[in-house]
This record gives sequence, C-alpha cells and structure tokens, in this order.
Amino acid sequence: QELELKLEMLEKGGYEHFMLKEIYEQPRSIRDCMRGRIYPEEGKVQLGGLKEFTDKLKNIDRIIIVACGTSWHAGLVGEYLIEEYARIPVEVEYASEFRYRNPIITEKDVVIAISQSGETADTMAAIEMAKEKGATIFGICNVVGASIPRITHAGVYTHAGPEIGVASTKAFTAQVTVLTLMAFYMAQQKGTITNSKLTELLTELDCIPDKIHAALQSNDIIKEVSAKIKDASNCLFLGRGSGFPVALEGALKLKEISYIHAEGYPAAEMKHGPIALIDEEMPVVFIATKNSSYEKVISNIQEVKARKGQVIAIVTEGDVEVKKMVDYCIEIPDASEAFLPLLATIPLQLLSYHIAVMRGCNVDQPRNLAKSVTVE
Ligand code: G6P
Repeated sequence: QELELKLEMLEKGGYEHFMLKEIYEQPRSIRDCMRGRIYPEEGKVQLGGLKEFTDKLKNIDRIIIVACGTSWHAGLVGEYLIEEYARIPVEVEYASEFRYRNPIITEKDVVIAISQSGETADTMAAIEMAKEKGATIFGICNVVGASIPRITHAGVYTHAGPEIGVASTKAFTAQVTVLTLMAFYMAQQKGTITNSKLTELLTELDCIPDKIHAALQSNDIIKEVSAKIKDASNCLFLGRGSGFPVALEGALKLKEISYIHAEGYPAAEMKHGPIALIDEEMPVVFIATKNSSYEKVISNIQEVKARKGQVIAIVTEGDVEVKKMVDYCIEIPDASEAFLPLLATIPLQLLSYHIAVMRGCNVDQPRNLAKSVTVE
C-alpha cells in the first residue's frame, strides 16, 4: 500500500491532486496540440486528419457539433469561431437530445463529435445516426484509438495526454484549441480569411501557451478570493459572446467538484431570471475582459452591484474601469477575442479547485460522477 501511495505521488508530479497538475500542464498540452499544425510565418494551418476532406470543406452547408458535458461547452466556443472565421452555419447539440429527435441531416452536412474519452455512449449513438443519414463525421477526441475516433470518417486528436481528474480541464482547452485550428483551416480553404489576417492570428496563437503560463500566476490571488466565497450556497457565472460558454464551463466546474449550486448565463439574460437571486450572499463571477462586449458587461456588473451582489471579475491585465466597481479582480493577459476562451477558463478552473479543496471535497473523484459515461 505504501508503494501504491508513492506511485500515486509520483504520478501527480508533486501536485496535491491530478486536477491541479492537469491545470498546470495546460501551457504544454496546448503547445502539443498545435505542434506541426500551425505555420505562423506562412500563415498556414495544416490538419493532416482532414486533408482528404479539403474539397468537401469548401462546400459545406452546415456543421452540427454533438457532445456532452464539458465537451459540449467546447462546441459552443467552436460555434463562435467557425461562424466568425469560416462563415459556415453551426449548430451545437447535446448528443443525448440530438439522437432522440428526428433531426434533418443530409449528405451535405458535417457532424463534428467532441469527446475527451471517445467512449461517451450518447455521443457515439448520435454520430452513428448521422452517419446512417449520409453526413460526414469528424471527431475531436483525446484518447487515441478510442471507439469514437474509430467510427468517424476523419478527425483531429487533441493530444492533451491522459486526463485523470474527473472534472475536465486540459482536455477542454485542447478541444478549444483544435476547434480554433479547424475554424482557421476551414477559413483558409474557403478563402474567408486573408493570408495576412491568418498570419497575424497564428502568430498570436503561437504565444497563447506563454499567456496561459502567465494566467496561472494569479493562483495566489485566486486562492484568496476562493477563501472569501467558499461558503456560498449559490454562485452565478456571467459572460457575453464567447465568454458565455466560458461562464457555463466555470459554473459546471464549480458544481462538479465543490457541490455549490452554480449557473452559467449569458450576462444580458440575467435580467430575465437570475437577477431575482442576487443579494449580498451571492457571488457573481463575470468574464469582463476587454473585447467587443466590454461596455455591455460593465453595465451588467453595475446591475449586480446595485443589488449588493459580490462581484468577482476576470479582467484584462491593467484594467482600471472594472477594478473600481467590483469586489475582486483576477487578471489575464490581453489577447484577441478569438483566444479569450482559452485564457479566461484558466482562473475559473483554479477558483473551483481551491474552493473544493477548502470545502474538503474529493477534487479528483467527485461523488456520483464518472470520467467516462458509457451508458446512456
Ligand atoms: C462526463 C465527464 C465530463 C465530460 C463528459 C463528456 O460527464 O465527467 O468531464 O465532459 O462526460 O465526456 P467526453 O469523454 O465525451 O468528453
């Protein structure tokens, strides 16, 4: 038993939990995910897995993304990116809902299945159905050779390495990275992006692992914030644009491992419901980075402050405006809007991690949850 314990310590690489180790691995896992796929100087993306389908990509009418859990949140980020850059309409579906509807699917559709494990029963069933109807199926999986990559027509592995913590962290950011690459790749094939713009974006993407490293430096501040809000029984996460799926993912992480009830919402929808819950007991986490929705998020923060909610804001480094209004600020490096989800997710992972540890929860194996759900 002592040996087993020692082995586990070794596997955790000096970290107290697998989840923390995996959070800290992200600069490397994202680098691994991009390796051999981006050529910033040439403004080129290469995805070997999709090469055979280059012509198909030029004429797709629609993309349907199917996934469950955290992978579904990655899909929502993918929707923003693909529509923005490749100008292809995207629908994101829960695999469990999609498979039991009678969805309209044709040979012209591309279905992208996102799954860390590559074994999720609902996601498998959804792609089997779409395949029967003639759609082309792409996979975004982490586990090489798993069931899903075996039944797809083509795909792109995330190469995040084994993820042990039940709550997904590095697999999520790798999925978002692959979706970013896919969006750029499709845009390149379709000609919806100029070479100079793509060069600019890829040069920036190449620096994202370093920026994630920088975002991790806020760990001590995040720990302090965690101590202040750890006893809350409810928590709200709000964001706009691609900050909305980040808010959903932040809320999911918190509820999964700390058992605090948490909801993610598009910030503007707050007034249609969640605002009724806000009082001095309620922590509200805002994704308030400097991007196109910055001013609008600021007015949402004012609405929460007017009702005495405690605001924690994820802001762009050097921000002064939001800082004046909120209770706690967590900075992330500045980046183009396309890369915001990758960076803004990091502090939310750390926040839920510290809160769960402070509440004495089993971070790596939360109750009732499984890493891979192979039953429906
Ligand atoms: C489970 C895991 C989640 C994961 C989801 C989908 O609920 O606990 O972390 O996001 O399944 O799993 P997949 O392997 O398909 O990404």
